[in-house]
Order: sequence, then structure tokens, then C-alpha cells
Amino acid sequence: MEKTFLMVKPDGVQRNLVGEIVNRFERKGFKLVGAKLMQISEELASEHYGEHKERPFFGELVEFITSGPVFAMVWEGEKVISTAREMMGKTNPAEALPGTVRGDFGVTVGKNVIHGSDSPESAEREINLFFNQNELISYSKQD
Ligand code: CMP
Repeated sequence: MEKTFLMVKPDGVQRNLVGEIVNRFERKGFKLVGAKLMQISEELASEHYGEHKERPFFGELVEFITSGPVFAMVWEGEKVISTAREMMGKTNPAEALPGTVRGDFGVTVGKNVIHGSDSPESAEREINLFFNQNELISYSKQD
């Protein structure tokens, strides 16, 4: 079954949106298989956002994501990678539709509340970057 990595960013944690966001994915019917509140190191942030290294906003991105705790999660379900991206909305909250996480709660492109893997390859990479195998729980759950 497909898995994806989602993370409530420091602005989402500060604004008490962790419960709201977990609730949306639970209600949708996806299965939470791993979760933790964590403070990201600069090293982990640089690795996670490695593909953006050459972008002018890279420094800002690393500074922001390490500025406070994040809530990291692994969710499982059919087509969870693409469906979670749709539920998150466009990267820029100004363009994200109402009903999506960023459309409902996002303010700026930097402070856009949530991160989610954009492909099966990045999901695998990001899950392994943030979680040890023994932190992912395998269990059965009714649909
Ligand atoms: P995320 O999905 O976490 O992946 C990369 C992040 O870069 C993205 O969300 C945005 O928060 C951030 N980002 C994209 N464009 C800009 C920008 N112009 N200025 C600051 N941050 C940006």
C-alpha cells in the first residue's frame, strides 16, 4: 500500500493546526502509521530540501523550517501521495482553493502550513529521512 510523508510546518504548529490537519486526513480515511513532534536540525533541513539548494529562497526555507517544532507524519492508503497533495492545495496559499489546507489556513508561500511528498520517489526518500523503520506501525484498520 502506498505511503506518503506529510509535515505540519512550524507556522502550523504555532497556530494550533496539528489536530485540524490530522483530523482531515483521518476523516478522509487514510491510515496514520507514524507521527512525531520534532525539532529539525539544519543538516536534516538541507538534506530534505536539497533539490531547492540553488533557489534564492533556500536560506529562508531552511531558517523557517528549523525555527520551531514540526509535526512529521507518515500516512498510508490508496493513491495517498497525489490525494494528499490535492487536499493540501497549491504551494502558494493565494492560489490554493478553499477547502484545501493551504487554501483555508495558509498565508504566504513560505509559511504555507504543510509539506507533502510530491512523488513515490520523494515519499520513500522523505519517509526514510525522517523516520526509522521501527517508528512505522503496521496494523489493520477498517475502511
Ligand atoms: P514545500 O512543499 O515544503 O516545498 C518547498 C517549499 O519552498 C515550499 O513548500 C514553499 O514553502 C517554499 N517556497 C517556494 N517558493 C518560495 C519562495 N518564493 N519564497 C520562499 N519559500 C518558497
